[in-house]
Amino acid sequence: MINSSKTVGRSSAAFELARAIVKAAPTDASVLIVGESGTGKEVVARAIHKRSTRCEAPFVAINCGAISASLAETAFFGHEKGSFTGAAATTKGCFETADGGTLFLDEVTEMPLPMQVQLLRVLESGQYHRVGGAELRQAHVRIIAATNRDPKEAVKSGRFRSDLLYRLAVFPIRVPSLRERQSDIAYLAQRFLDELNAEEKTRKQFSEATITHLEAYNWPGNIRELKNTITRAYILANDTIEIGPMMPVFRVKTPDLANGFLKIPIGTDLANAQLALIQATLEYYSGDKRRTAAALGISPKTLYNRLEQIKGDAPANGTSYRRR
Ligand SMILES: Nc1ncnc2c1ncn2[C@@H]1O[C@H](COP(=O)(O)OP(=O)(O)OP(=O)(O)O)[C@@H](O)[C@H]1O
Ligand SMILES: [Mg+2]
Repeated sequence: MINSSKTVGRSSAAFELARAIVKAAPTDASVLIVGESGTGKEVVARAIHKRSTRCEAPFVAINCGAISASLAETAFFGHEKGSFTGAAATTKGCFETADGGTLFLDEVTEMPLPMQVQLLRVLESGQYHRVGGAELRQAHVRIIAATNRDPKEAVKSGRFRSDLLYRLAVFPIRVPSLRERQSDIAYLAQRFLDELNAEEKTRKQFSEATITHLEAYNWPGNIRELKNTITRAYILANDTIEIGPMMPVFRVKTPDLANGFLKIPIGTDLANAQLALIQATLEYYSGDKRRTAAALGISPKTLYNRLEQIKGDAPANGTSYRRR
């Protein structure tokens, strides 16, 4: 958890980030957090909530990209019993469950367009009603949104409304990639190791070369990848943790994808071939997860599950495909 610049890191980028958190927290302004996958956007959102006057009320996170357009309204505003076939009971939406607290709209640029219109209306009026309900309800939530794509690009390509962007980005925060804060790598690695040592009552240490290798790597999966790498190495090590030079990450070249083709070397195992196809399709559709899922013939939810698996599966390095 982020408490101060000391715990985020020691780089000037980490210091700036900690300062932004401290500034944003006590206000009720909407915050838009932008940063690559695994940089700690949700950690930042939770830190803002923890430091705000709403800290005793709920922090509710909703993944805007994982909800289908047809279910979005219910997910946000809830529904009354019998309002549609299958609505067996009255259900609260996330605006209601987050009442008094913070609503974290994760992957906000993936939100279906019709839902963006409705969200904007609620943010402007401060009121909503459950699907099938007549009673107007007050929205008492602070909004923190996050995205790992450039929101201005999302507006340019027509998938995100500019009026909603301005409404959400009252206080914009950019979370730097780990590559941009190289001096934090050793610090964060040591912190993760200290935590593991404390939990397990051990005294494992990094070899000197390990730190050099960690610092030389480009960390496409950012802090998540670093944490997974340290945890795995910790489990495998006896007293001294040795991490060798890390393999460069092979990124599927965009020109190949422009022709709509992906070359996968013979001998690639199925898990990595699937990973490469998912990544290539995602890049081909400029990160649009809805279109990617449709092209792959899977639901957005399944795509999210695969991407989550990839993230959690440390050797795969974020969503990048490694040459074997
Ligand atoms: N400053 C930090 N200190 C310690 N751990 C951190 C920090 N920032 C991120 N982490 C860890 O890194 C992992 C990824 O963080 P988080 O889920 O917040 O990233 P994210 O930017 O939301 O990623 P995604 O875009 O993939 O959803 C988590 O395990 C989190 O605990
Ligand atoms: Mg996240």
